[in-house]
Amino acid sequence: MAKIIGGLATSHIPAIGGAIAKGLQNDPYWKPFFDGFGPAREWLAKEKPDVAIVFYNDHGLNFFLDKMPTFAIGAAPEYYNADEGWGIPTLPPKKGLPELSWEIINHVIEKEFDVVTCQEMLVDHAFTVPLKLFWPNEDQPLVVPVCINTVQFPLPSAKRCLNFGRAIGEAVANWKSDAKVVVIGTGGLSHQLDGKRAGFINKPFDLKFIDSMVDDPEWATQYSILELVEKTGTQGVELLNWLAARGAIQGAVHKVHSNYHIPISNTAAATLVLEAA
Ligand code: DHB
Ligand code: FE
Repeated sequence: MAKIIGGLATSHIPAIGGAIAKGLQNDPYWKPFFDGFGPAREWLAKEKPDVAIVFYNDHGLNFFLDKMPTFAIGAAPEYYNADEGWGIPTLPPKKGLPELSWEIINHVIEKEFDVVTCQEMLVDHAFTVPLKLFWPNEDQPLVVPVCINTVQFPLPSAKRCLNFGRAIGEAVANWKSDAKVVVIGTGGLSHQLDGKRAGFINKPFDLKFIDSMVDDPEWATQYSILELVEKTGTQGVELLNWLAARGAIQGAVHKVHSNYHIPISNTAAATLVLEAA
């Protein structure tokens, strides 16, 4: 049976893609952020996962406001990147694993999560930038994209996202394969890009949320979506992707590494590495 060996999470700010393209990793503005990836890359080099299930939100590239699925899962052999408007370089296509995609899709639909299935799917910065950060040499494992609507209301609750992740964890555990699987949650932590609160950041909440990801992932489910937006900003609610990824890891985890740096662009940038017990 396949095993989820751990989880990674990181912010997915488009400007990071520009900084990588320009080689600014040691620039004083960027260094505290990029330095947070050394331990994650070391852990990945040691563990060598075969597959990454990536929980992220699309920002108007594959899904626009006219058609917005709550949950969508990729089932394509390959996922092409495109720029939805930030002017950042397009990254090479990522290889999929339709066999695992369909295992997951069949299981979650049986568990009453009625997902949109995508046999073609463009992926935006929220998918490609974290993969580039964790595997800078483009030697990423096979991928399964899991897209959660954190953009257009109504959004799925924190509890539902955690349980959606749990259903995906069950699907992986049932999959007859000896593949090593890692889950990745992208986005967050607190940030708001628009309106009167543009630039809003909530460090105490973010640090508590990171702690809760280790041994109390239910903690964030006490909050409604509107309360999460109030506490983390209109885009901070992307933490739903982190929660879903955490839900997929069955049993206890221990923290290998975390990093928190304010700000990168408008965002409290955070990185987390969890290992399954
Ligand atoms: C920024 C953050 C995001 O999550 C995003 O999707 C786009 C931009 C930012 O802070 O610039
Ligand atoms: Fe985002």
